[in-house]
Amino acid sequence: MAFPANRLRRLRRSPALRGLVRETSLDPGDLVMPFFVRPGKGERKAISSMPGHFQYSTDELLKACEPVASAGIPAVILFGIPDRKDSKASGACAKDGIIQRALSALKDRYPDLVLIADLCFCEYTDHGHCGVVKDGQILNDPTLELLGKTAVSQAEAGADVIAPSGMMDGQVAAVRKALDSSSLEMTPILAYAAKYASAFYGPFREAAESPPRFGDRATYQMDPANLREALRETALDAEEGADAVMVKPALPYLDVIRAVRESLKLPVAAYSVSGEYALIKAAAARGWIDEKRLALETLTGIKRAGADFILTYHALEAARWLG
Ligand code: PBG
Repeated sequence: MAFPANRLRRLRRSPALRGLVRETSLDPGDLVMPFFVRPGKGERKAISSMPGHFQYSTDELLKACEPVASAGIPAVILFGIPDRKDSKASGACAKDGIIQRALSALKDRYPDLVLIADLCFCEYTDHGHCGVVKDGQILNDPTLELLGKTAVSQAEAGADVIAPSGMMDGQVAAVRKALDSSSLEMTPILAYAAKYASAFYGPFREAAESPPRFGDRATYQMDPANLREALRETALDAEEGADAVMVKPALPYLDVIRAVRESLKLPVAAYSVSGEYALIKAAAARGWIDEKRLALETLTGIKRAGADFILTYHALEAARWLG
């Protein structure tokens, strides 16, 4: 008896009706725009695998943030590319480091824009790993102390949110403790909690000049095959004091986003990573897909899966399309 009494097409008859019953909304206010910052002045170096994205010097970054802020995007996340790398990632916590200078310049110019600092060492180490390396091993606990120090320097420079992304055990607790003991107890932590060892980071590693020089990240980032482990990672980060947790990448991990959403009360972020962006851009450049529709459909899907907000390289374009 379902049909003919029930006809689901009745509510699809007009844009207004469809709007009334739409279950998921996408808004510029849900988006975070990633930026790469490099030393120098007047520099704007294209990233070939991420059309439309650049490594900016700080002065150029200030200009690039203008349309982002005026499009209603509330937040940016910053990645620094230092001029020198070493084994101890000294550039990461330097008072005049690349990210610290960019943060304070941005905070000055855009006091209302939320500045998220990615907290990781792979861009700052000569070996390209996210922690302290000894005898070919990525050491966990010695990395924690360095993370704490770097988080404090980022927050003091103007970061509104600290986002540890190195997947070291205990990193959230270490960062929380370091912030609190520097009177930064009101600085929130967005934990890259379920971060998978993903081939989708390929273009980012060109953008951030951060590929590991030996081995891979499989001893610290998660195995793409695992879901229960993501629930453990996110629960532990919540216990350690994370204010929000992130799942990354987004598109191949919608089930993880949904499961984390259902298992925790914390805000859940999803990072639609460089490879997801590159796939869409590459197909669009060939005329194989409609970029606007595909990007918005993808972002809607990520929200529908349970993300409260999304880090995406499409943020500015999407905000404009959403008008
Ligand atoms: C740093 C970091 C990475 C990304 C964000 N933070 C790269 C990696 O783990 O290799 C990837 C983001 C992207 O691909 O867009 N650890």
